[in-house]
Amino acid sequence: MARVLVTRLLPEGGLDPLDGHELVQRDDDRPFTHEELVAAVPGVDAIVCLLTDRIDARVIDAGAGRLKVIGNVAVGFDNVDVIAATARGVAVCNTPGVLDETTADLAFALILSASRLLSEAERDIRAGRWHGWGIDQYLGRDVHGATLGLVGYGRIGRAVARRAEGFGMRVLHHARRDTGAPGFVADLDVLLAEADVVSLHVPLSAETRHLFDARRLARMKPTAVLVNTSRGPVVDEEALAVALENGTIFAAGLDVYEREPDVHPRLLAAPRTALLPHVGSASVATRTRMARVASEGVRAVLAGERPSNLVT
Ligand code: DGY
Repeated sequence: MARVLVTRLLPEGGLDPLDGHELVQRDDDRPFTHEELVAAVPGVDAIVCLLTDRIDARVIDAGAGRLKVIGNVAVGFDNVDVIAATARGVAVCNTPGVLDETTADLAFALILSASRLLSEAERDIRAGRWHGWGIDQYLGRDVHGATLGLVGYGRIGRAVARRAEGFGMRVLHHARRDTGAPGFVADLDVLLAEADVVSLHVPLSAETRHLFDARRLARMKPTAVLVNTSRGPVVDEEALAVALENGTIFAAGLDVYEREPDVHPRLLAAPRTALLPHVGSASVATRTRMARVASEGVRAVLAGERPSNLVT
């Protein structure tokens, strides 16, 4: 029986694969501070954590000699220092494949919301600022028939592309390597010049941090909409706020932020902006599957097996 530190409460059934192991868990859902995490890791064989837990070299070192595996309940794993884990022989697992459709649904919701100014309209009606139908009110951009530019063409990007077909959109995509699929555009700036909606589906890395800075935003059409459901730091929030204020682009739909849970105050005040609190994968079924997949990876490593969701 191994000892597994579980940093937060997980959906019911999410930890079932770890039956038979000792779970070290708090009764409440209070997040561990970084110091608390460092203090909690000695003496455990595994950690099941969330994307909000920073599992850096210090945390990994605190588990030295015993820690074998980290199961991150997310497909993105930029919160885990994978290089440090690998160097110390600690396996890292994530949750690929189980949240693509749910996240693509949300990305499409943001495409519709930002293009049609739905958040602005709702804000007005709730604040008593709507005084009757007007022919020039809330004039958005049509989604049907528009050109969608996907940046990143992994599972989630492809799932968004399938939805776009139903809306009669023309779909282009950019990826680091030629995908061989129709609609591939090698030069990101060329895609930006064509796209009416740009949707981001890249992991966060040194290469993608601030991929959308002031220069890139200026390459987009002034009528275009930017949607980000990947990771916040892929977009320079300050530059985006300025682009929205100046009309460099038409609108933005965001689910992720540079310094979650903080949102750049200028972005909060920016016009034509739909903001959501990182809910891309937030359905009961998907969050349960994510917890199970991360737990299953941990179980497998503890059993001496090689899980399919190993990122190291
Ligand atoms: C992930 O899994 O990386 C998502 O951001 C969670 O919704």
